Amino acid sequence: MKDLKISIIGAGNVGATAATAIAQKELCNQLVLLDVRNGIAEGKALDMWQSAPLALYDTRSIGVTDDFSATANSQIVVITSGMPRKPGMNREDLVSQNARIVQHVTRNVMTYSPDAIILVVSNPLDVMAYCAYLTAQCPPRKVLGMAGLLDTARYRAFIADAINCSVKDIQAVSLGGHGDTMVPLPRYTTVSGVPLRQFLDDDTIHKICERTRYGGGELVNLMGTSAWVAPGIATARMVESIVLDQRRIMPASVYMNGEYGIKDIFFGVPAKIGRNGVEEILEIELNDEERAMVDQSAISVKETTDILLNMNIF
Ligand code: LAC
Repeated sequence: MKDLKISIIGAGNVGATAATAIAQKELCNQLVLLDVRNGIAEGKALDMWQSAPLALYDTRSIGVTDDFSATANSQIVVITSGMPRKPGMNREDLVSQNARIVQHVTRNVMTYSPDAIILVVSNPLDVMAYCAYLTAQCPPRKVLGMAGLLDTARYRAFIADAINCSVKDIQAVSLGGHGDTMVPLPRYTTVSGVPLRQFLDDDTIHKICERTRYGGGELVNLMGTSAWVAPGIATARMVESIVLDQRRIMPASVYMNGEYGIKDIFFGVPAKIGRNGVEEILEIELNDEERAMVDQSAISVKETTDILLNMNIF
């Protein structure tokens, strides 16, 4: 097991699920959970540690209440802090509240772990990743947001259902912000290398894309709060690619510096994820229809980013 410390800020549903998945994979020997609520992180970390003899892992989890010194010298910090959505809310409704929280958390993280790679999970995702980046003032490759991996997991699950085949054989990529304008890309979706359109008709594919776009909202409506199992596991997968320097190619929210003609926002694109964080952004060819959807999504993320910038907190 790697001699490595990973901290997870926010021990809510997503933070605790990510922590469990990271520990079960033994991606590090020290795992710190931090929460502002008294005792919550301590309790969840203790419960996790008591599951270690059963799940057979040695990653040691500890929990702390708002004590960032316990996160010192973390190689990776996952930020899940913030309010989740309630039914009827868009992710964008959370900007002002969550920006202050993410800014506060990032400042503290950087004080104790100035070299950490920061993985943001808080919503609205692309804007909170940008908020962490502006606060951290570190190279852009060291800040990334988890979204596209979750969105494509939903999309892949729906496709596997429609075809009645293994989810393991569905490969997919998406572009765009983590919101209702996200852009799943059926033209680049394959079933064991065979283009999706050889399995499903356009109408079915269209319905799956729509369901994917509103996939988070579907769960909020069912449960009264946001999802956590798939978001937590997607987070752990990204952490794994960083820790093990796997250089996996997955959609992630990254700082855009002219790629796809987009600048100065965080936006979901396929990226190679490795020990330095974002190793490379992949620019894939788009047709006119895909291009128009990506542009629309970029406008939407930019509008929400402007809400953040107009807060004048940087
Ligand atoms: C979702 C929330 C976490 O998509 O954004 O489920």
